[in-house]
Amino acid sequence: MTHQLLLLHGPNLNLLGTREPDVYGSLTLDDINERARRHAARYKAELWIEQSNHEGALIDILHVARRRVVGVVFNPGAYTHTSIALRDAISGISLPVVEVHLSNVHAREAFRHTSLLAPVCVGQISGFGWRSYLLGLDALLGHLGILKD
Ligand code: DQA
Repeated sequence: MTHQLLLLHGPNLNLLGTREPDVYGSLTLDDINERARRHAARYKAELWIEQSNHEGALIDILHVARRRVVGVVFNPGAYTHTSIALRDAISGISLPVVEVHLSNVHAREAFRHTSLLAPVCVGQISGFGWRSYLLGLDALLGHLGILKD
């Protein structure tokens, strides 16, 4: 049996590879998605992957996820720090969500230190570049009991 998970990327993450590579690394979003797919496959997990620059579109995807997947790894980009609507969506779907960031948001500008989403997520992983996504998958699979001790 394969486990269906959503890997969701928020605004500006489509620019990865060229966007501030000193902060976010040189891999493209496709490179990261490919590594995440391969990592998930080791645990018989299949990824539905989406990216959007629009808050409402991200909310719509989370609503659909309720019926399609058992958990979510989510890099909400700057919406992390601003979006009560995304927070309500995460609370509303009652799926486990792991928040991930490429950069260490706590070592950056003060406005990035607050996540409106983290309190309704299982937890937050921040600062490990593209590996944050693999760590996020491990955290989610562990939380779901798919990755055993
Ligand atoms: C980010 C961190 C956010 O503060 C920023 O707005 C992003 C990317 C990260 O992955 O490090 O767009 O989520």
